[in-house]
Amino acid sequence: MNVPFYEKIWMWAAAVIITAFAVTVTVGYASSALQPPSHVETIDPTKVFTDPRFAQRGVTLTDHGATVVMVAMMFAYNPAEVHVPAGKPVTFRLTSIDVTHGFQIVGTNGNTMIIPGYVSQFTTTFAQPGEYLIVCNEYCGLSHHLMSAKLVVEAAP
Ligand code: CUA
Repeated sequence: MNVPFYEKIWMWAAAVIITAFAVTVTVGYASSALQPPSHVETIDPTKVFTDPRFAQRGVTLTDHGATVVMVAMMFAYNPAEVHVPAGKPVTFRLTSIDVTHGFQIVGTNGNTMIIPGYVSQFTTTFAQPGEYLIVCNEYCGLSHHLMSAKLVVEAAP
């Protein structure tokens, strides 16, 4: 088969790009525990505060770690500060009552979108005790830049 020289260049270029994409996804999955969005659980965004899953917000300690329930809204998180244990898996359950927000725990791999109508859930473990800033990284309105919360990771007693 006679493939013209320039055609070969483009074929190899396309192969390299596809390989690079596949490597990026694999490395992200393996090194940073990246996972597909967990948007499988739905919720009525107008009834979040009376929904049993979000009526009580905050931290629940379990035998294995902790669960954090938080609600995002323009332009705050409720609750605005949570305390979780270090070295144990922490599951975050998040939803929005208005528009799409972000949820990034700066300096960690905790990062997800919060979309009204859905419950976003992810689990991560914080090795280092300390204070972490949670910021909204999806533009959600005029005071988007003020939307933040605090995560305190406490060392085991
Ligand atoms: Cu919420 Cu930006």
